[in-house]
Amino acid sequence: MANFFKATNKKQTLGQQININIERLDHNGCGVGQYQNKPVFVEGTLLHESVLAKIFEKKGKYSRAKLIEVTDQSEHRVDAECAHFKVCGGCDLQHLNFDQHLTFKQEKVAQLYTRHNINAQLPWQPSIESSPWHYRRKARIGVQYNKAGQATIGFRQRATNQLTAIKHCPVLVAPLKDIFSQLKAVIQQLTIHSAIGHVEVVVTEQTTLIVRQLKAMNKADKQRWHDAAKKYNWQVVIDNGDNVTPLFEITELQYYLPNHIEIKFEPKDFIQVNHDVNVKMIEQAMQWLALKPTDKVLDLFCGLGNFTLPLAQQVHSVVGVEGLQVMVDKAKDNALTNKINNCSFYQADLNADWSSALWNKAGFDKVLLDPARAGAYQALEQLLKLSIPSILYISCDPSSLARDSELILAQGYKMEKISIMEMFPQTKHIETMVLFSR
Ligand SMILES: C[S@@+](CC[C@H](N)C(=O)[O-])C[C@H]1O[C@@H](n2cnc3c(N)ncnc32)[C@H](O)[C@@H]1O
Repeated sequence: MANFFKATNKKQTLGQQININIERLDHNGCGVGQYQNKPVFVEGTLLHESVLAKIFEKKGKYSRAKLIEVTDQSEHRVDAECAHFKVCGGCDLQHLNFDQHLTFKQEKVAQLYTRHNINAQLPWQPSIESSPWHYRRKARIGVQYNKAGQATIGFRQRATNQLTAIKHCPVLVAPLKDIFSQLKAVIQQLTIHSAIGHVEVVVTEQTTLIVRQLKAMNKADKQRWHDAAKKYNWQVVIDNGDNVTPLFEITELQYYLPNHIEIKFEPKDFIQVNHDVNVKMIEQAMQWLALKPTDKVLDLFCGLGNFTLPLAQQVHSVVGVEGLQVMVDKAKDNALTNKINNCSFYQADLNADWSSALWNKAGFDKVLLDPARAGAYQALEQLLKLSIPSILYISCDPSSLARDSELILAQGYKMEKISIMEMFPQTKHIETMVLFSR
């Protein structure tokens, strides 16, 4: 086999133009075909398309080629909405008709499950949908300077660390429509050069900017931020790497969930980026868990209490566990604000040994876990010892989800329901909910 690859390898040369049929999309949404028995990855192509592409990277087992022309195009190909598509690394799927995105995502999850030997028919439920555009309420906007001190303001280009200048980003919520030109106007005027690393933006009832300031600000630059804040109706917070300090008094940040639940947060705290999908996700989680007034529920990776507080309104009690003490404090505060007193919050590194933690007791009826992209393997190894009858897993990374599901199923659980949630439309990112029971 090795000799075979060697032999065929010689026939592919850098810069060579090849005609290729796209036979599958990888989990990043990149088209893959075979050329001389070797996979060739061609970005911007779709399943069943024939394309002309130019090889720009040759590795032992695969090559990468740049799309030159689609010679036979998919019925699902559409023109990308955004002028920056293909260059900007933010969106991957704009050339695929939106009605196909969920199908693509569902197939990717199914393929990853197959890789983990989970071959049975998956109990798919209807996906949670999103509006295709203007859904993102939080983003990090990069700032880079050239030698002349001119700033590029935008997002990272595909597969590089360089920024591409952005004019408009159609996935950001409406109040951020002109954010790039507005930021450019302020940043170019600052007297201290190369002072800004990036700017995070969060939209709730206000638009808040968290400005990563790399050099101490002088009075004149402070005034420029003040003036811009007034003009554009921003709240500005300065992050100097050690402290996050409001430039002037700001209104507390919060978002609302059904039943008048108010979730307060600090500008840099994790919040789910797509508000509408977050609300639908919480509703579905509560429905799937078939909550009873007598239930005792555990909420792992609970953050600010985004799931904990709505759950607590319907059950006997909820224990929320989170790694960051600041989030735990905020979650406790959120419970108080909402006058919800049947939940308690604890700090713990869930990837470490928590066998002696106070909250680690038998008797939970249901557990919800919502880990970061790395998943929850170490947490699950311990959690599974509690034999909790229902496990609801919210995942933002299907690879770690498939790996963790294998562990859960090996302990005698059955997968009851699974669905995709369109948390990040136009991108390859996949959010999934799975319910297991035993
Ligand atoms: C995807 S967020 C979910 C937060 C919350 N459930 C929500 O819906 O807003 C993951 C959370 O896990 C926390 N986390 C990450 N690693 C952790 C660890 N090793 N132990 C405990 N918590 C952790 C993060 O601080 C973050 O709040």
